[in-house]
Amino acid sequence: MQIADFALERYFARWEFAVRHLLCASDVEGYPQAELLALADAETAGLWRDLRLGYTESRGHPLLRAEIAGLYETIAPDDVLVFAGAEEAIFCLLNVALGPGDHAIVTWPGYQSLYEVARLAGAEVSLHELRPADGWALDVERIRAAIRPETRLIVVNAPHNPTGMLPGKADWQALVELCSEAGIALFSDEVYRFLEYDQADRLPAGADALSRGISLGVMSKSFAMAGLRIGWLATRDRDLLERCARLKDYTTICASAPAEILSLIGLRAKTAVLERSRRIIADNLVVLDRLFAERPDLLTWVRPRAGSVGYPELSLGGRFAGWSADRFAAELVAAEGVLLLPGSHFGQPGNHVRLGFGRLDLPQAVDGLRRFADA
Ligand SMILES: Cc1ncc(COP(=O)(O)O)c(C=O)c1O
Repeated sequence: MQIADFALERYFARWEFAVRHLLCASDVEGYPQAELLALADAETAGLWRDLRLGYTESRGHPLLRAEIAGLYETIAPDDVLVFAGAEEAIFCLLNVALGPGDHAIVTWPGYQSLYEVARLAGAEVSLHELRPADGWALDVERIRAAIRPETRLIVVNAPHNPTGMLPGKADWQALVELCSEAGIALFSDEVYRFLEYDQADRLPAGADALSRGISLGVMSKSFAMAGLRIGWLATRDRDLLERCARLKDYTTICASAPAEILSLIGLRAKTAVLERSRRIIADNLVVLDRLFAERPDLLTWVRPRAGSVGYPELSLGGRFAGWSADRFAAELVAAEGVLLLPGSHFGQPGNHVRLGFGRLDLPQAVDGLRRFADA
C-alpha cells in the first residue's frame, strides 16, 4: 500500500503528549469518565455494570445505532454503521465509493485522509480550495465547474477543520441540489456539527439532505470523547453501507464493547454534553477575541462560525521578520511549551496556523503565546 504520510498526525505523534499546552488541538477537552457515568440512566447503568468484554455486533450495538439515528431527521438505526473513530469510517467509505477511473472533489485545506484515501483508492482528486479572501466560503459554482463525467463523490467538511467555516444555508442547499441533479454522492464530514455558535445556523445533515448523502459523525469533537474511538456513517444508501460493512471485516470487525456503552450514555445525555462543549468554546473565544483585538500586528483571522478550530494568519514582522510559520511554531514550543500547527501540515504555503480552542487550558496557552511574542 502506497500512501503519503498523514502530516498532521505525524506532527501530533511527535508533540501531542510532549508539550504543556496544545493550542492547536481539534477536539474538546476530554469528558471525565466518572462524570459521564453519573449521567447514565437505569438501562445504561445496567449495561455498564453487566458488560461482558466479548466481541460486539459488527454493525454497532443496536441501542447505540438507535441513539445515533436520533441525531438525524430521516435516518433509521439500520442506516447507521459504527466504526473505530471517524478515521476508520473515512477509510472504508472512500475505498468502497471510489476506484480507478473515478474522480472526486474534496475541500482543501483539510483533514488529509479525506483526499489521501481517495487517491489510495485509485481515484483522481480535484481539491476545492477554500480561500481566505472569500472568508473560506465554499464556492458552489467552482465545484460545479470541476465536475467531470466520471465524478462519483463530492467530499465536504463543514463545520470545517481548520478554518471554522460553516456554509450559509443557501450555499449548502445549492450544493445539495448540484449533487442531486448531477447524480453524485455527497460525503459530508460533520464531526464538528452541533458546535455552531448560533444554533440557528446548523445545516441539515448530508444524510438527511439527499438520498445519496453520507454523514460522518464521531464522539471525538462535539461530544468531547475522542478516547472512545467511536465514529459512524449514516446514509439511506443501504447498499453502500453494506459494502462498507464488508470492508470493515478486514479492519476492526467491530467496535470496543466499553466504548460503545460509554458512547450510548454520552449520546443519551447529549444536551448536557454538548452544552459543556459549547460553554468551553464560548469562554475560550472571549480570550481569543481579546487577543485578536490587541494584536492585529501579529494575528488576523476570519472568525469561525462553528467548531473548535480556526485558521489565523501570522504577520511575521519586527523580530520575526523573515521567519516562516514553521519556525515561529518551533521556537514557540521550545520557549513556552505551547503548540501551534503550521499550515504546511495541510500542504499549504504561507503563514496560516491552526488554533484549537476546545481545551480548558487555552488561557494559559494564550499567555504563553503573548509572552513569546512580547519577549
Ligand atoms: C474533519 C475531520 N474529520 C475526521 C476526523 C477524524 O476523527 P477521529 O480522530 O475521531 O477519528 C477529524 C479529526 O481531527 C477531523 O478533523
